[in-house]
Amino acid sequence: MTSRTTEVPKSGIGAPVDRVEAHDKVTGAALYTADARLPRMTHAVLVASTVSAGRVRRIDTARAATAPGVLAVLTHRDRMPWRGTPEDATFMEARFPLADDRISYYGQYLAVVVAETLAQAEYAASLVAVDYERHRPVPTLDQALPHAYTATGRFIQPPFPQRAVLPEGADPGAAMEGAAVRVDATYRVPHYSHAPLEPGAVVASWEGDALTLRDCSQKVHQHRDIVAAVFGLPPERVRVLSPLVGGAFGNKTDTWAHSLLAAAAARAVRRPVKLVLTRKQAFTATGHQPPIIQRLRLGADAGGKLAVIVHDVVNATEVRGDRPDPAVVSTASTYAAPVLSVTTRVAKVNISPSANLRAPGDGPGSFALECAMDELAYRLGMDPLDLRRRNHLEKDPLTRRPYSDKNLLEAYDLGAERFGWSRRPAKPGSLRDGDDLVGYGMATAVRGELPDPLATQAEVEIRADGTAEVRTAIQEIGTGSLTMVAQITAAGTGVPLGRVDVRAGDTRLPRTPGNGGSKATGYTGSAVHLAAEQARTTAVRMAVTDPESPLHGLPQDEIEADDGRLFHREKPGRGETYRALLARNGGKPVLGKGNYTPRTSHAVATFGAHFTEVRVDPRLPRVRVTRHVGVFDIGRVTNHKAARNQAQGGIVFGMGWALMEQLVPDPVSGRYVGPAFTDYHIPVNADVPDIDVLFVDKPDTIAHPHGSKGMGEVVAVGVAAAIANAVYHATGKRIRELPITPDKLVS
Ligand code: MOS
Repeated sequence: MTSRTTEVPKSGIGAPVDRVEAHDKVTGAALYTADARLPRMTHAVLVASTVSAGRVRRIDTARAATAPGVLAVLTHRDRMPWRGTPEDATFMEARFPLADDRISYYGQYLAVVVAETLAQAEYAASLVAVDYERHRPVPTLDQALPHAYTATGRFIQPPFPQRAVLPEGADPGAAMEGAAVRVDATYRVPHYSHAPLEPGAVVASWEGDALTLRDCSQKVHQHRDIVAAVFGLPPERVRVLSPLVGGAFGNKTDTWAHSLLAAAAARAVRRPVKLVLTRKQAFTATGHQPPIIQRLRLGADAGGKLAVIVHDVVNATEVRGDRPDPAVVSTASTYAAPVLSVTTRVAKVNISPSANLRAPGDGPGSFALECAMDELAYRLGMDPLDLRRRNHLEKDPLTRRPYSDKNLLEAYDLGAERFGWSRRPAKPGSLRDGDDLVGYGMATAVRGELPDPLATQAEVEIRADGTAEVRTAIQEIGTGSLTMVAQITAAGTGVPLGRVDVRAGDTRLPRTPGNGGSKATGYTGSAVHLAAEQARTTAVRMAVTDPESPLHGLPQDEIEADDGRLFHREKPGRGETYRALLARNGGKPVLGKGNYTPRTSHAVATFGAHFTEVRVDPRLPRVRVTRHVGVFDIGRVTNHKAARNQAQGGIVFGMGWALMEQLVPDPVSGRYVGPAFTDYHIPVNADVPDIDVLFVDKPDTIAHPHGSKGMGEVVAVGVAAAIANAVYHATGKRIRELPITPDKLVS
């Protein structure tokens, strides 16, 4: 298994070093939010609706309130401390929790029970009796489809046009008519859950009117600002600490009702409150990707050059908010087509609010586009990879800006070579291994980087004991962010990696956009890079102006730093350690501050190519992925071990979408069937083949000063399409609805 095309560096940026928190994780010393214990801490349990539409006619809390150990039971009849409106606070839902008696989704919280112990709270919660006025729910997208409409409002995230034709005034219908070869197909994806191992958890504590939340968050500052607004507090009065996060995939980017309820409960009982969601609640109440129906039309000339792309999307959205899925967002930026038309509509169903799920939009969007490209290739009698090369895009068509860097053609070549794509017979169903049908499929991955409106900050200190400390609010969500900032600090200061301390996951530390939108490495990495440079430069200036320093009088740009020491580039023997320098200069640490806003006038995106091999047993048509090659163009790789790990994780994630994951709503009650790992299947080790990961690994310093871009999302984009395309190649059956479970291949 290889992880790159050239040699992996042994030290510095790119070195495949272990995670800084790895030892703690494998020994069990690592602490997650739910591990927090505070003096006098109490426990909260949520009572959730068992119907998906209606009202609370009566909620009987008398037995719960008098059960042993119970301190409080809060329902919508209590005055909740929320200030202003959900809109003002940019809260995740259109309604604050427990705001009224209306129920619009299964699992909506109806009460919070607080008790001395978790067992007491659980028991008391079981005693809360709800008398429902039941309404007839609309549980599925198909039922809602006739009422689909164009969304407006604040839940359009990222902001994108709900209908657009490019260029303006073009006639996509005429372009389709005029095309020599056409594809017109409809693709479906189900509800997907983020399914991280760690469910949402929070410990809320008040000191006077200052609130501390220990919470699982990918974005502590955003979370703090929302919670502060909801409670009518200045942001400085709220502190959010997010220690290690046990997986998130997007569902910890938002502020959820349970965090607000824990804070309200802690205020009501005047003691700290711990609230940990049950597994079922983690499946129902911290977001999901909604089901989406996508009609994709492609028109091309006989040589495979695209003339037009028409992408029409409709997704399920909750009753109280319009949340269009951004599946069309990168349709324009994947292939060159002179005419493009995209539309997005929503249809209201009784489901909980959806949320960003790893590669929002591009995950499902790429399934439709990349399968349609495959269908077009067969119709043209062309190799699917050649078709993609033929329609390669040089400039971002929306902004008309050149890309900061784009090495997609190289990624195609590397992947095709490694995979052995040229050995693929063109005819579907023609490749066999014993009784198994074998198929090859491929897909392109594109993920645009959306600029963050706020500057990203970081601080780096070189200390008199020869160590360094990097401070940033970034969280560790399992991807290696802490190691990334430590490596960039070490590289920038010359302090050895083992002597770099990382402080992170706290709103008292410098602000970052957090771990979302694949921005950790590009944004926080750049701020740390700038801070480390500044700290080093300050120390260098101190040395060359200090008459007692061996470096005195040398030009600053001739000084280098390595192994905790500053030295002359030409004569490395001439120099001194940071320790010696700082000791002589008062012993105070040298501080560097990074304040980063990308200033590029280029379009920034990450790219990749997936090549996959599946085997299908024709008697029981279960699909197994037997080989996969992923090649990624993400700028300079910061850590080859962490990057390979993350790429493999993303590919496994895509395998789940392709073959097994789905939350199924009961079409009558609107409850999810089996919201648990027993029914919601994600790939396990036995499902996962050897995954070969390669990186183009070229610094993109136009995008970010350290040359690295984020990779958490692009690695998952296109995987499901590559697998579906391989299934077609193996069987001759085009499955346009995920997941590709055996029932779909039987008929
Ligand atoms: Mo992401 S879906 O911005 O964690």
